[in-house]
Amino acid sequence: MEKVRMGFVGLGGRGHDNQQVALNMKDVEVTALCDLYLDKAERCADENEQVYGRRPFVTTDYKELIKRDDVDAVIITSAWESHIPIAIDAMKAGKAVAMEVGGAYSLNDCFDLVRAQEETGVPFFFLENACFCEEELLVTSLVRRGFYGDVVHCSGAYGHDLREEIVFGKENRHYRLRNYLNRNCENYPTHELGPIAKLLGINRGNRMVSLVSMASKSAGLKEYINNNKDKVDPELIGKDFMQGDVITTLIKCAHGETIQLRLDTSLPRAYDRAFTVHGTRAWSNNSMLVRDGDGEKITSIMDHKEYMPKCWTDEMTESLRDSGHGGVDGIEFRVFVDCLKAGKPMPIDVYDAAAWMCISCLSETSIAQGGMPQEIPDFTHGQWMIRPLEDVVEFPDVE
Ligand SMILES: NC(=O)c1ccc[n+]([C@@H]2O[C@H](COP(=O)([O-])OP(=O)(O)OC[C@H]3O[C@@H](n4cnc5c(N)ncnc54)[C@H](O)[C@@H]3O)[C@@H](O)[C@H]2O)c1
Repeated sequence: MEKVRMGFVGLGGRGHDNQQVALNMKDVEVTALCDLYLDKAERCADENEQVYGRRPFVTTDYKELIKRDDVDAVIITSAWESHIPIAIDAMKAGKAVAMEVGGAYSLNDCFDLVRAQEETGVPFFFLENACFCEEELLVTSLVRRGFYGDVVHCSGAYGHDLREEIVFGKENRHYRLRNYLNRNCENYPTHELGPIAKLLGINRGNRMVSLVSMASKSAGLKEYINNNKDKVDPELIGKDFMQGDVITTLIKCAHGETIQLRLDTSLPRAYDRAFTVHGTRAWSNNSMLVRDGDGEKITSIMDHKEYMPKCWTDEMTESLRDSGHGGVDGIEFRVFVDCLKAGKPMPIDVYDAAAWMCISCLSETSIAQGGMPQEIPDFTHGQWMIRPLEDVVEFPDVE
């Protein structure tokens, strides 16, 4: 396969941006676009035509897109609820799938996703771009070199003030509003969990066994709406939201490690992922590093850049810097396309997707039951014990 021909389903903010990343790749062609709203798909088709001189096929029905002969890979950038059904249908149509992140609504959906991939055997890639971030990769590289000793605990967060995006969901035709009105859970676990799961070898020598979740009260959105009464949809005034403002989840792993996740999206705050790794020989948090034997002297993980994987140091990455999230999205798409063309296994696969996404529905049950522990299924059918450790990129072999 010289060129990968992509079809995109869901052309809101993320679909539009991912499509730009794809269009900038010489060995990729965007041949089809789909959104429930024709204007969103047409906007992207217009851009394609103006910049690249070709107009992709446009539809509002993803079933038309997935049956096309000129689509090799379906990129799913739609609303959370639609990810798994579209991915299953696309795999059954024989298309490779790259699916954007979000949480699952039921364990059955996760099992169905895994089963569809196993039965069809088509490549499946979970687009968790945080796994390709500079800091997360450098820390993982250092962990592989024994820098942290035995890793005992990791934590992370999705701290992002999304009040405007949520509250103006009707105007923006955005899915978060309905989720925050109707659910109370860790609805977006993978940005923080993905890199941690990779670091701890989840599904590859280790697995997540159980979790407990607690939700704070829900106050942020109501107050925001009250303060913006003249601008918001009048139907939202006085409405109660199910979603708590801060959701804390604790996960226990098979080899004893604990993982703490925090979802924090409806109060004023600065963006952070609070990526923290704590081992017997070192601790790091947001690039601050403390090593055993150095007292409490704080240095930076960036002092150890010789361990940085090539994707963050070579020229290719320089040229990707303009792609989304400071180049991360370009690296992620490059990895997907390279694996697809070479017929190599995807470094974030369907077992990762299922294990990470199921945290949402399990946290929902745990919260509803007052913080009761929930068992996390083993989607690998026991294979986690024998699957070799595999990182998303290669780390340098530093002496
Ligand atoms: N990895 C990242 O950094 C990152 C950043 C932003 C969003 N995302 C993810 O990308 C996805 C989209 O987020 P967004 O902010 O662009 O949302 P959005 O609402 O702006 O876009 C989603 C689009 O999907 C369309 N859609 C929904 N169901 C569909 C269906 N069945 N068929 C066709 N189109 C459908 C909607 O009409 C909408 O235009 C989400 O999963 C989100 O979590 C990831």
